[in-house]
Formats: sequence, structure tokens, C-alpha cells
Amino acid sequence: MFNIKNELYDAWKEKRAVGAFNIYDLETAQAVAEASKEADYPVIMQITPSAIEFAGLKQIFDIAKNEIHENGIKAAIHLDHGKDYGITKSCVDIGFDSVMIDGSKLDFEGNLALTKKVADHAHRVDVMVEGEIGVISREEGGELSGEGEMTNPDMVRDFATKSGVDILAVSVGNEHGAPKGEKLNLELLREIGLSTPVPLVMHGASGLSESDIKEAVRCGIVKLNIDTNIRKIFVDSFSIKHPGIKDPREILLGAKNEAKELIKKYIGILSGK
Ligand code: G3H
Ligand code: ZN
Repeated sequence: MFNIKNELYDAWKEKRAVGAFNIYDLETAQAVAEASKEADYPVIMQITPSAIEFAGLKQIFDIAKNEIHENGIKAAIHLDHGKDYGITKSCVDIGFDSVMIDGSKLDFEGNLALTKKVADHAHRVDVMVEGEIGVISREEGGELSGEGEMTNPDMVRDFATKSGVDILAVSVGNEHGAPKGEKLNLELLREIGLSTPVPLVMHGASGLSESDIKEAVRCGIVKLNIDTNIRKIFVDSFSIKHPGIKDPREILLGAKNEAKELIKKYIGILSGK
């Protein structure tokens, strides 16, 4: 049976990494699964709370599970940016392989306590846990969410050991949404890489150059998160009809609601109500 923690720890030793790609519907799940199959390399399908809100937890979990099964790939289903214990528990209980608890906006002690609570629960059923230390200044979709804060290398060992996380996300200049000017502080990442007791995760990787990604992997990054660049492909394919759209879900949701009203109209006609 494929075990994502073993895979990432092997990758750490071998100085390679696994891509974590965000999915929120059948098409994104298919794109990730088929790519993994054709490339013959493991992947992580990651699902944010907003994707769960969009698709439904069981529905999106089943889509991911079916795509993994049908394509016969080595893949893990992961909760991306879980912000509270409740969402991580729901994902662990339904069968996710891995969860992220993002307590990065809390102070050190608050982040540590929350992350440890999640890890204690998840580890009981062998689910991997990702934590985060340092604040990435832009949220999902690239919206500014206050001041960013680089990861303090002196806190990494303490946080990882006391919380029990398996992998740790860091803030070293990386930002969500691929904003202009996104640039890694590789010196800081190297320093963190030398002292960390667990392998590292790079969020906001859509805006990074190939050479920065390769260097980041040499520094201990084993999981690299890509969302924006995949959304962009879907959005660009619609953008002639919908200029200015940043998220394909806005189009899909609008189309679904239009279709729903039409179907209800037919039902109204047919049912005589
Ligand atoms: O958690 C998801 C990733 O960090 C997304 O990063 O916006 O650069 O694709 P991205
Ligand atoms: Zn992220």
C-alpha cells in the first residue's frame, strides 16, 4: 500500500520532491491523476476548505479516490490549509491520507498547541500531518492577508519536535497566487534545511523559477504546492467569454446555477405544478 510519509521521507534522502496539486472538481482530479499515470510518478491531490465548500467533502473525496483507483497511481489525498481542528478531524475520519493544520497566524504557543492536537488525533490512524511556521502573506487565490513573516530558523526544531508534525511548511519569500516579484530567500531556506528534523513544504510555488525550485529541493523541500498555474490554464480557456475571471469555479458555479434553473423550469412544466 502506498504510504505518503514513507514516500516523502525517501524523497528527502534522495533529494527529490513530490508535487501537491489542488483539485476541486472532476476535471482537476483527472488532470492530476492522468499526469501521474503518464509520468509514472506519485502525486498528492490536495483539497482546500474552500474546495470542500464548493464540492462537498464526501463528493470531492470520492472523486479523488476514484481517480486514483481507476488510474492505478501512487497518490495521496491531502487537506490543504486546514484552519481548525474540526476540518482536520472530518478529513481524517473520512479517510484522507494527510492533513495540513495551518496555525501560522497564531502566536508560537497557540500554533504549537493546535498543531499538536491535530497530530495526536491524526497519528492514531496513521494519517500524515503538515504544519506551518512563519506566515505567507498572500492567501489562496493570491489575496493579500496582512503582513507576511519569514520563518525563524531558531524556532523550527522546537516547533517540529514538540508538535509532532511529519512535514513542515515554511515562509521564505514564497507567496500564494504567483504575484510579480515573488522570490525565494534561498540563504534562509538553506539555514532552515540544515537544522530541521522533518522535511519541508513549499507553498506558493506557482510563481517560482525552475532553478529556485531545484535549489529548494536540494535544501530539503519534499512537497511542492501548485494551484494558481493550474487554475490559470482552466480560466484562460474560458476567458474570451468571461474576461477578468480569476477562478474557474466562478464560471462553473454560474453555469451550474443557470442549468439548475432551466432544469427546474422543465420540471415545473412536466410536473404541472
Ligand atoms: O496551498 C496551495 C499552494 O501553496 C498554492 O500556491 O498559489 O503558488 O499555486 P500557488
Ligand atoms: Zn498554500
